[in-house]
Amino acid sequence: MIVTIDGPAGAGKSSAAKALARRLGFKFLDTGAMYRAVALVAIRRGHDFSQAQPLIELARGLNIELASPRVMVDGEDVSDAIRTLEITSATHYAADNPGVRELMVERQRQMALGADVVTEGRDQGTVVFPEAECKIFLTASAEERASRRLGELRRRGEHPSLEDVLEQQNQRDLRDSVRKCGPLKKAADAIEVVTDGMTPDEVLARLEAVVRSKMRH
Ligand code: DC
Repeated sequence: MIVTIDGPAGAGKSSAAKALARRLGFKFLDTGAMYRAVALVAIRRGHDFSQAQPLIELARGLNIELASPRVMVDGEDVSDAIRTLEITSATHYAADNPGVRELMVERQRQMALGADVVTEGRDQGTVVFPEAECKIFLTASAEERASRRLGELRRRGEHPSLEDVLEQQNQRDLRDSVRKCGPLKKAADAIEVVTDGMTPDEVLARLEAVVRSKMRH
């Protein structure tokens, strides 16, 4: 069975999707980590982001493994390195590049072959797995998402202001939704879950209930 979870940044998608996969015994695909990994390596190699084609070549040459909860690139554990603010703001160069997306979409489909998966991103229910049996669109208000993101960053030792986080989030939301290729969009057959005011346990319980109701059909 394929369960897709799409939605904007900071809706609690990542932890909910991971916990859901664990509870169901499914494989977990954090597809945002793949675009982050491409951006990380590009920055390390001093890539000029105005050049689209070399970024595709760079992405093609990378062995990205989603060994949840670790993310590996060419055998190196980059799980923490891909979550900094610097990488978060550069990731759109990878995510907006149609050639990079094509490669990542192909790899995501390969990773899901013959497996039960929970896959999390922006385009999983619309572009990557349009035939998925269970599609969820997980969202929350902009303020709630920004304050959750701030908490996450603080736990990692970064201390930006709430205004900065909100501003960066608004830019990302806009970029994610106007992207020509694989934009953030609720699939017509996705179930929307709004997580404002819900604890992580409540979100997990709700998602599990949605999936189990689909399993019975
Ligand atoms: O979910 P995240 O914050 O790790 O995603 C990082 C970036 O990658 C974000 O700007 C959206 C983009 N992304 C995407 O375009 N398609 C996906 N399937 C997953 C993430």
